[in-house]
Amino acid sequence: MGEATGLDDRLPIRAVRKVEHAEALDEAGAAIGKAVRDRIAPGALKDALSGTWLGHALHPLMTDLVIASFLSATTLDLLGGDRDGKAAERLIAVGLASYPATALTGANDWADTEVVDPRIRRVGLAHAAANSAALILYAASLAARRRGRRGRGKLLGYTGVAALAVGGYLGAHMSFVQGVGPNQTAFDLGPVEWSDALEATRLTPGEPRSVVVDDTPVLLLRHGDALHAMHDRCSHRGCSLSDGEIDGELVVCGCHGSRFRLADGSVERGPATAPQPVFETRESEGTIQVRRSQPSG
Ligand code: FES
Repeated sequence: MGEATGLDDRLPIRAVRKVEHAEALDEAGAAIGKAVRDRIAPGALKDALSGTWLGHALHPLMTDLVIASFLSATTLDLLGGDRDGKAAERLIAVGLASYPATALTGANDWADTEVVDPRIRRVGLAHAAANSAALILYAASLAARRRGRRGRGKLLGYTGVAALAVGGYLGAHMSFVQGVGPNQTAFDLGPVEWSDALEATRLTPGEPRSVVVDDTPVLLLRHGDALHAMHDRCSHRGCSLSDGEIDGELVVCGCHGSRFRLADGSVERGPATAPQPVFETRESEGTIQVRRSQPSG
């Protein structure tokens, strides 16, 4: 690979590239990720932490609470208006109290990236380290303030917000550059027109089959009297659903156990938060054809 040039040569991007290639983090990262997955198995707790009930990831909302609390406290320190310092103390206390649940949602999301790209795991570890540093610095800041050492508390807050900025930058890199969190089918809605998918005789009843139709991976399945076609890239982290299992009227993803209804792609259990696109099917002259569902009305 050539050297980064132009806009890719800016300091933050070069720094994050170094983290992405820090293979020394892999052993610890793999062990921590496995420990998290073992402790947060598919089910109600994982769905709650993943945001399945919300329709998208919960972690970004939680981070807003922590960042807003710490940042507001430091803004008060910088701009004044908090004569006795109590408002800043309360804000730091809110940030500290909301940190554990926020970290738990993040660890849960991060642990499920093991199937995607090891660079995400490395950046995630650095993100967690920076945020942990911010937590420690703000905890020390609050302790200093409560001992009456307000100046020291402010200084600790200033360093804490710097660590928070690094953690935020790395988190944004994971979401917006590495694609952790978005619906993995969002930019691939499937063929608009009826398109050939497979000769009908090549689809064995009860056996899912993966085909590519107009660049879209499609899972085909004859199930009872029905012929189903569903996007074959799991909306959670992109695994192929045809590598998973069929359980009655559900498709179960083999990577993290998300369960989608064959009939309409809706999520029966997470950690997926977005439904799986399903396609209309028909057979024409011995060929199975699919197209994306037409908007009603
Ligand atoms: S990729 Fe995670 S449940 Fe499918």
